[in-house]
Amino acid sequence: MVAAGPASEELGNSIAGKLGVESLKSEFKVFPDGESKFTSEGKVSGKTVFVVQSTYPPVDQHLFQLLLMSHHLSQDGAKVVAVVPYLAYARQDKEFLPGEGVTLGVVAHLMRSAGVRRLVTVDIHSAEGMSLFSIPVYSVSAIPTLVGYAKEKLSLRDPAVISPDFGASKRTEAFASLYGAAYFQLSKTRDRKTGEVSVREAALDVRGKDVVILDDIISTGGTVKAAAEKVLGQGASSAVAICTHGLFVGEAVRKLEQAGVKSMVATNTVPGVLSVVDISDALASHLKTLEE
Ligand code: R5P
Repeated sequence: MVAAGPASEELGNSIAGKLGVESLKSEFKVFPDGESKFTSEGKVSGKTVFVVQSTYPPVDQHLFQLLLMSHHLSQDGAKVVAVVPYLAYARQDKEFLPGEGVTLGVVAHLMRSAGVRRLVTVDIHSAEGMSLFSIPVYSVSAIPTLVGYAKEKLSLRDPAVISPDFGASKRTEAFASLYGAAYFQLSKTRDRKTGEVSVREAALDVRGKDVVILDDIISTGGTVKAAAEKVLGQGASSAVAICTHGLFVGEAVRKLEQAGVKSMVATNTVPGVLSVVDISDALASHLKTLEE
C-alpha cells in the first residue's frame, strides 16, 4: 500500500498507480492551537506500507507528519518503508564547526523510533549521511531522468556540464557521461558563519558552450548564482540550472535570473512550478524491487 502524506499527495498517488497498489485513505486534522492528528482507514497489519512524504519547507512540520504517519501505521502492524523524496537535514551530516549538532543523526534516530524499517530517498546529499541511519537507506538516482529531460526538452548546443562544488562532482560526471557532454568542476567555498558562497577562479573551456550547472539542491540560489557568473564571465553562450531538489527559497529565482541563468529545472521531489521532471517512475521501479 501507499500512504501519501500531505507534502507528497500527488507524487504518492502517482507512485501507487505505477505500482498498481491501493492508496491508504487517511486524514490530517489540524487543531486551532496548531497540533495535528493523523487518522487512517482500513487494515494495514502485515502489509508493507510506503509512506510517501517529502520534507521540504516547512521542514519540521513535514518531518513531524512523516513521523506521526509512520508511528501510527507501524503500531497498527504495518511494515513501514519511508519514501522521503527530499530528505531534509541531509546537509547536516557532520560537525562542520565545533559544537554544531549533527541533525541528520537525530532524524535517523526519530525515524527508527517511529517504526520506519527502511528509508528510500532521492539523490541524498552525501553517502556519508546514509551511515548515520541504523536502518537500510537507499538513494534513488534522479540523474538518468534529468538527462532524459535535458535531451528531450532543452535544446543545448555544444553543452558542458558544471559541478559547482566537489560534493556535486560524482553526480555531475554521471550526468555528463550519460548525456555525452564535457564536464568541469568548480571549487566553491562557503563561509560557514555567513553562508556566503564564492567560487575560486579557474580557466574553463566553456567559450561558446551551453552550460548546464547541476546540483542536488537549489535553496537560496547562492551556489548556482556564483557558478553561473563564473561560466558566463568566461564566455559561455548560456547557463541553465538543473537540480534534483528545487527548494528555491525566498528570492532564489529572481537572483538566478539576474545572474543570467536562462532556465531552471528540478524534479518533483519538491513540488513547484519549476519541478517539471517527474521522478515517480524511478521511485516506483525501486520500490518494486523491495516488494519482491
Ligand atoms: C551544498 O553543498 C549543496 O549541494 C547545494 O550546493 C547547496 O545546498 C545549495 O544551496 P544554495 O542554493 O543556498 O546555495
